[in-house]
Amino acid sequence: MSNLPPYLFAEIDRKRALKESEGVDVISLGIGDPDLPTPQRIIGAMAEAIANPKNHQYPAYAGSKPYRAACAEWMKRRFGVGLDPDTEVLALIGSKEGIAHLFPAFIDVGDYTLVPGVGYPVYTTGGILIGGETHYMPMNEDNGWLADFESTPAEVLAKAKMMFLSYPNNPAAVAAPVEYFDAAIAFAQKHDLLLVHDNAYSEIGFDGHLPTSILERPGARDVAIELFSCSKAYNMTGWRVAFACGNAEAIKALGTVKSNVDSGVFTAIQDAAIEALLGPQDDVAAMREVYQRRRDMVLDALDTIGLSARRSQGTIYVWARIPGGYTSAEYATLVLDKTGVIVPPGSAYGPDGEGYIRISLATPDHRLAEALERMATTL
Ligand code: MLT
Repeated sequence: MSNLPPYLFAEIDRKRALKESEGVDVISLGIGDPDLPTPQRIIGAMAEAIANPKNHQYPAYAGSKPYRAACAEWMKRRFGVGLDPDTEVLALIGSKEGIAHLFPAFIDVGDYTLVPGVGYPVYTTGGILIGGETHYMPMNEDNGWLADFESTPAEVLAKAKMMFLSYPNNPAAVAAPVEYFDAAIAFAQKHDLLLVHDNAYSEIGFDGHLPTSILERPGARDVAIELFSCSKAYNMTGWRVAFACGNAEAIKALGTVKSNVDSGVFTAIQDAAIEALLGPQDDVAAMREVYQRRRDMVLDALDTIGLSARRSQGTIYVWARIPGGYTSAEYATLVLDKTGVIVPPGSAYGPDGEGYIRISLATPDHRLAEALERMATTL
């Protein structure tokens, strides 16, 4: 427990509550929690599903048959990837839960997980919880924020079991070319690693770029599983519903852990998620436009604030370089103290995040504009 840091966003919530108790009007550009509501069509499906007494009993451990079939159908429609819903799809109580439970499934004490130099904190803390080791794969401006797995030392590889990647990338907001996925698949094959591709931002690509699935690539299914979530794609963070798919052996192992520690996703929520995945997708396109507009608002303001950033290719973030003379934690504290705006420090995402902050676009336009204005005038 003493090696386990407080969860980044729980810590940020604590700081926010403290500031608000001092009377500060806090604007959070912190967590990626969509301000846009869940589409009405999904709420309608939930209203119907919750009235069905069959849904009030224990859910199926791996997910209901119709939900798993809908996930497979969505993968087919969206990426042209065919999956067996019985062996290659598993319902998750959000991707975060799936990520955390991959560790007891695949990592023994002392085994290594290869983790991107900046990434979702649970890739690291999941290992800490069970006595696993983390190797950070270097990621920076020079390699386009494509985690460098090839540089992993031989002694680490000898004890490595699992590797995480995530594109569009949280927090660096870049997409990966398919050649990079191909190289990662070959690397995982060579070193007998489970490759986990976290595709939580699969529906949010900008400037006409629509993210791909690693399972589209040849050989992926031999070594990879992919995680998809309704959270960001359908504004359903609070509903806790996602799925893992791909390599059948890995799906089975994860399912075995899960059936021993949780009892599945509330079936009514799975019914609503079926509507999310298979209903008309116009709301997804509209959401993408909102985030792209907000990304442009942020990019236009950065210069005046003294920050700089690449043009985000996807996700709901801008990954901005901070001025010299501060650590990213110092800078994030300065921003909160001087402007009442919350931005997570880049260092909280891993060692390569030092020198950056992450700006979330999941805030209504007028509040985002106000936050940028405060930062521009005060900093
Ligand atoms: C993020 O902001 O990176 C995620 O939405 C936070 C989370 O899933 O805890």
